[in-house]
Amino acid sequence: MPTVAIVSQKGGSGKTTLALHLGAAAAYSGVRSCVIDTDPQATAAAWGDWRGEFLPEVVTSPPARIGATIQKVVKNGVELAVIDTPPHADAAARESVKAADLILVPTRPRAFDLHSLETTAELVGISGKPVWVVLNAVPARASKVIADASAVAEGLGLKVCPVLFGERAAFHRSAATGEVARESDPEGKAAAEVDALWQWVRAQIGLPAGA
Ligand SMILES: Nc1ncnc2c1ncn2[C@@H]1O[C@H](COP(=O)(O)OP(=O)(O)OP(=O)(O)O)[C@@H](O)[C@H]1O
Ligand SMILES: [Mg+2]
Repeated sequence: MPTVAIVSQKGGSGKTTLALHLGAAAAYSGVRSCVIDTDPQATAAAWGDWRGEFLPEVVTSPPARIGATIQKVVKNGVELAVIDTPPHADAAARESVKAADLILVPTRPRAFDLHSLETTAELVGISGKPVWVVLNAVPARASKVIADASAVAEGLGLKVCPVLFGERAAFHRSAATGEVARESDPEGKAAAEVDALWQWVRAQIGLPAGA
C-alpha cells in the first residue's frame, strides 16, 4: 500500500495540517485513506474524533507498531496511508521513514525553520527514499522568500515540491473546527492548493489520476 510519511523535526511546520488535508483529499477522490498519528500529543487523532464519521479514518500508533498498524489497515481495505509524526522525535520519524514510499517535509520559509531543516535532511536523507520539501504557510507575493527557501533546501540535497501552501486562514481554522479547507471554504485558494498537491502526490506514488 502506498505510504506517505510527513516528517519535520521543527514544531509547528504544518505536519498535521498536511497529513490531514492529504488524507481527506484522497478520501474525497475515492481513495480509501488512513492517517496514522504517531505523535503522543495525538493532534490528528483528536481532529478525527471531532469529525466523527467523516473520512479520513485516523488511527494512533506508537513508533514501534507502525508496521503492524499498516498491515492492519491494509486488511481493512485502506489504499493509502499518511503518517503524521511528532517534532523532535527520532524514533517516530525513523520508523515512519522506514515504512514510507514517499516522504514530505513541510517547512515554513523562515530562517529558524530552514535552519532546522538540516536535522530533518540528515534523518530522511539516508533512507534513499524520495523526499520532497513542501513549502508551507508561504506569505503572499513572496517570490524571493520562495527562491531563498528553495535554495536552502536544495543546498541540503532536498528537492522542493512544485506545489506549495500559502499562509491561509482556511488552514489555520481547520485545526480548530475539524474541517478541511475544501469543507470550510470550497472555492478558496487553500482548497485548490490541497487538490494540486494531492494530484501531484498520487502521480508520485503511482496511483492513477482521478477526481
Ligand atoms: N498554510 C498554513 N496557513 C495558515 N496556518 C497554518 C498553515 N499550516 C499550518 N498552519 C497552522 O499552524 C499551526 C501548526 O500547524 P500543525 O499543527 O499542522 O504543525 P505541526 O508540524 O503538526 O506541529 P507539531 O510539530 O507541534 O506537531 C496550526 O495552528 C495550523 O493551523
Ligand atoms: Mg503535529
